[in-house]
Amino acid sequence: MKKDIYILGIESSCDETSAAVVKNGRECLSNVIASQIEIHRRFGGVVPEIAGRNHLLAVMPVVDEALAKAGLKKTDIDAVAVTYGAGLIGCLLVGVSAAKAMAYALGVPLIAVNHIQGHIAANFIAFPELEPPLLALVASGGHTSIVDVSGFSSYEPVSATLDDAIGESFDKVARILGLPYPGGPEIDRHAKQGKANIRFCPNMHVRGDLAYSFSGLKTAVVNYVHNLRQRGEEIPVDDICASFTAEAVGYTVDTFIRCAEQRGVTRLALAGGVAANSYLRSLLSAECGKRGLTLFVPPPVLCTDNAAMIASRGYYSFIEGKDIAELSLNAQSVL
Ligand code: KG4
Ligand code: ZN
Repeated sequence: MKKDIYILGIESSCDETSAAVVKNGRECLSNVIASQIEIHRRFGGVVPEIAGRNHLLAVMPVVDEALAKAGLKKTDIDAVAVTYGAGLIGCLLVGVSAAKAMAYALGVPLIAVNHIQGHIAANFIAFPELEPPLLALVASGGHTSIVDVSGFSSYEPVSATLDDAIGESFDKVARILGLPYPGGPEIDRHAKQGKANIRFCPNMHVRGDLAYSFSGLKTAVVNYVHNLRQRGEEIPVDDICASFTAEAVGYTVDTFIRCAEQRGVTRLALAGGVAANSYLRSLLSAECGKRGLTLFVPPPVLCTDNAAMIASRGYYSFIEGKDIAELSLNAQSVL
């Protein structure tokens, strides 16, 4: 009988310290997430040095809890998979160092996982029958990328953002409106109560090269709010949130669908923290429905940063013998 494979995943690229155990790439036995959102809220965003120090405090307790929840001992682990980039360098280093130490001490392979590919692999846990090929949109605080997934370990980046990530633009718009960090969920909540009656960026259309760009829209919203403030007028927060969301999400969905049509793919997957956005979920699902495309969207806990997605991605490298890292593995802020 084939032996079950248990991968320990470790994720620390931004402000979540997470460890998880995934069985055979698909079954999440534990997914412990220590979030630092409360720590960074007072600064209105993630402070990298503070995040790094808190990862250091959290990482081993989180690993121990993940093993305990999975009902396994350290020696039951077949490999350790860790996010080595992209992300905040001082944060990544903590996870990478912990993973190296564990892999060395246990005598098991160390697997280097690309964070964007990890986000996409969340779909393989959420949908155990799902198999490539598929086209994925990773929409998070650090990334907005379309990736062609032709195999469990074959990821081809098709398009990315030229400037801000979509989540970053949500967070910045929220900040100018005085909403707490992280801004994405706040904007989502306010948008539901508002009307999309303001057009910030009339020239925002799908680009010929399918690259994304959010800085123009973000700047237009910032200027709009500044002008109202200078004139001493009331800020229609709900309508601004609804209008910004309609433009940002409409443009994101149009580009993704255009890309899918050009490549002739029929299976689409969403990933990353912004996949929790209610309008993105509903618009994308409606547009896919109209065209007979099948859409996969993991539950929010697997969309935001977590180690289960890293363990799942690591499993496929492990069984294919790819991305097995040396103990000299270094963290990389940009990939
Ligand atoms: O994937 P993630 O946890 O971290 C990164 O890898 O960046 O994504 C975090 C991002 C933040 O920008 C946050 O504001 C955004 O996801 N986000 C949302 C929502 N929930 C989280 N953006 C829009 N609507 C939401 N409901
Ligand atoms: Zn992420």
